[in-house]
Amino acid sequence: MSDASSAAGPRTAAVIPAAGRGVRLGPGAPKALRALNGTPMLIHAVRAMAASRAVSLVVVVAPPDGAPEVKTLLADHALPGGTPSGSWGSTDFLVVPGGATRQESVKLGLDALPQGIDIVLVHDAARPLVPVDTVDGVIEAVRDGAPAVVPALPVADTVKEVEPAAPGEPEPVVATPERARLRAVQTPQGFDRATLLRAHEAVVVGEGATDCAGLVERLGEPVVLVPGHEEAFKVTRPLDLVLAEAVLARRRANDGF
Ligand code: C5P
Repeated sequence: MSDASSAAGPRTAAVIPAAGRGVRLGPGAPKALRALNGTPMLIHAVRAMAASRAVSLVVVVAPPDGAPEVKTLLADHALPGGTPSGSWGSTDFLVVPGGATRQESVKLGLDALPQGIDIVLVHDAARPLVPVDTVDGVIEAVRDGAPAVVPALPVADTVKEVEPAAPGEPEPVVATPERARLRAVQTPQGFDRATLLRAHEAVVVGEGATDCAGLVERLGEPVVLVPGHEEAFKVTRPLDLVLAEAVLARRRANDGF
């Protein structure tokens, strides 16, 4: 198995779509710019990608009108050793403006990738606390030959498929998929660059895949799952902010992070 904890091997970039408004979190700044323990969620997400020694470039896809603000934010939080304009330690970064949907934002990030990148991670800014071992596990599986790799966990809840009803009306259940066969997927999702580009080019914007692996599935290419991590949860609702701050407090108590 290839070792993603070393910088050698195919060059890997991470694209972080961070252009969503985050309406389910309540009113306020775009979700990625909300603070967790005083640091914007996006900065936590960028650090989580830069923590992998295999990741040499991070492309942040900013809210359409927010690229200058995000550039300033990254420079303000740069780690010692980085140059002020564009690198964080040994990881370079780029900021590009995003689009109206996640899919469009990811495509704009992919368009900004330079030559020489062979593996692309796509990571939601809304999953700021993914551990580096999960990131490295995804990269290793792509290096070992899988064109599309997704971290995932079994689901705890039983899941019902419904016929959506008008707001306030009870929703009829149409099916109950067997829980043991369901997985909840996370990010970063990892791809062979050429496969991901083909998937984005083949799919019409607005067709509405909620993750990039779904686009690869539509191409008929194999997608495989590797173990995800409970700390890679998506910050979506106000209670998730409380949980994220608790995880950070536990990390600080455990290892002074
Ligand atoms: O809320 P949702 O699951 O759609 O968001 C997933 C990720 O996609 C978030 O990090 C969000 O900022 C990003 N996104 C984006 N551009 C959009 C919508 C969402 O980059 N237009």
